[in-house]
Amino acid sequence: MLCVLALEDHGVKPGSGEVLVTGATGGVGSVAIALLAKLGYTVVAATGKASEEAYLKTLGASSVVDRATLSAPGKPFQKERWVGVVDAVGSHTLANALAQTRYGGVVAACGLAQGMDLPTTVMPFILRGVTLVGIDSVMAPLSKRQRAWDRLARDLDPTLLETMVLEVPLQDSVAQAAALMAGQVRGRVVVRIAD
Ligand SMILES: NC(=O)c1ccc[n+]([C@@H]2O[C@H](COP(=O)([O-])OP(=O)(O)OC[C@H]3O[C@@H](n4cnc5c(N)ncnc54)[C@H](OP(=O)(O)O)[C@@H]3O)[C@@H](O)[C@H]2O)c1
Repeated sequence: MLCVLALEDHGVKPGSGEVLVTGATGGVGSVAIALLAKLGYTVVAATGKASEEAYLKTLGASSVVDRATLSAPGKPFQKERWVGVVDAVGSHTLANALAQTRYGGVVAACGLAQGMDLPTTVMPFILRGVTLVGIDSVMAPLSKRQRAWDRLARDLDPTLLETMVLEVPLQDSVAQAAALMAGQVRGRVVVRIAD
């Protein structure tokens, strides 16, 4: 939600073009897609899980791209495509997303699933006026949290939330952790502590 607010605050409007969401089947990515689609944005989901295309489209993605198209080192300046980006991945993926962001576009960076490096150049910033917005939920002040929670209550479809969440008993948590590390989990896993 904080990423979506950042796009809005920097003037990215629904209907103005494609918004890229990376780490699409993850917890952050899934929520971002559902929110953006509900708000009328055209969402392109980048994922490593081709088998989850139907899930991503159910959340509201208009189309799906293979994350491999973004994860390798790329040119500093590429064909313009995105009016906005929600990036949960970092590293070369974020660098390529910046290099493909349209003139005046906005990129919200919140994660490092690929890596914490950012091998980019100043080109997207000085020649296309791209804005890179940092997103932090841990130390975010109460006023920002309140705004985000209010908007989540309004804009996140609870039915879609159901499709993103798997609830498991405590004894299954180790197996779920292994599946998560193997890239086999989508959305969020909620561990039920007590029966
Ligand atoms: N800034 C903040 O306040 C904040 C808050 C929450 C989370 N985060 C960070 O945001 C990131 C995402 O969090 P999450 O909870 O959504 O994690 P998650 O549920 O584990 O999802 C991460 C997703 O990233 C993709 N991915 C995994 N490894 C990758 C790789 N090597 N290269 C490219 N993509 C990869 C996968 O999606 P696909 O299989 O669909 O490609 C995966 O589902 C994490 O780095 C987390 O630490 C930051």
